[in-house]
Amino acid sequence: MTVKTLTINGQMISAREDETLLEAAQEAGVHIPTLCHLEGVGDVGACRLCLVEIAGINKLLPACVTKVAEGMEVNTNSDRLQKYRRTIIEMLFAEGNHICSVCVANGNCELQDLAIEMGMDHVSLEYQNPKRSVDTSHDRFAIDHNRCILCTRCVRVCDEIEGAHTWDMAGRGSKSHVITDLSQPWGTSQTCTSCGKCVNACPTGALFNKGASVGEMVHDRGKINFLFNARTKKEWNF
Ligand code: SF4
Ligand code: SF4
Ligand code: FES
Repeated sequence: MTVKTLTINGQMISAREDETLLEAAQEAGVHIPTLCHLEGVGDVGACRLCLVEIAGINKLLPACVTKVAEGMEVNTNSDRLQKYRRTIIEMLFAEGNHICSVCVANGNCELQDLAIEMGMDHVSLEYQNPKRSVDTSHDRFAIDHNRCILCTRCVRVCDEIEGAHTWDMAGRGSKSHVITDLSQPWGTSQTCTSCGKCVNACPTGALFNKGASVGEMVHDRGKINFLFNARTKKEWNF
């Protein structure tokens, strides 16, 4: 395995050639904000929160799906990047219906955490106030499409870790939304095993356990990490 040498924020680091910039940065202790990235499932570069600047390349590139290369000079924290990240978070708040004070994930939400990290104390864009539904047909779980940010973590964890592929995407543009099976009520899904991995993978209050009240939804990423490590690194922990 070839080792590549590059700089991140002026700090010289080494990384395996198959590593992404995000992995290399994390190993070097450099924080890059992420939202659609979830440890243990494939990256899709959907949210663009992890955009970084690379010397000699005009475009900003997502760190989670960009591989390291020899001599790269990467900047993860310029004024421009901070402005873009804040705008992305503002767009997510304006595009959906996020009223944190009445959300089941209040205090346990990655979108909320990022808004705080970006210093986003108000939304300067026009709220879209879309009409979206809530599906409570499943015995144990529910989905509130008002809180969904289309990160597809549920889709990937259900497909790649559970192997059920219950979730998928439907629609285009502002009509995009997640669906279960053939766009039917979740409770009627033939493929859902009720494992709850999607609920634990969701960064917001979109997927939640029934019976959890405002501020009670805790996302247990440990279960997903345990399964990922157990399968890929054969670390069964009996
Ligand atoms: S999902 Fe997160 S950002 Fe959205 S309303 Fe709930 S706590 Fe707020
Ligand atoms: S339901 Fe949650 S995990 Fe699935 S796409 Fe929406 S925000 Fe992401
Ligand atoms: S974390 Fe990289 S694009 Fe979402």
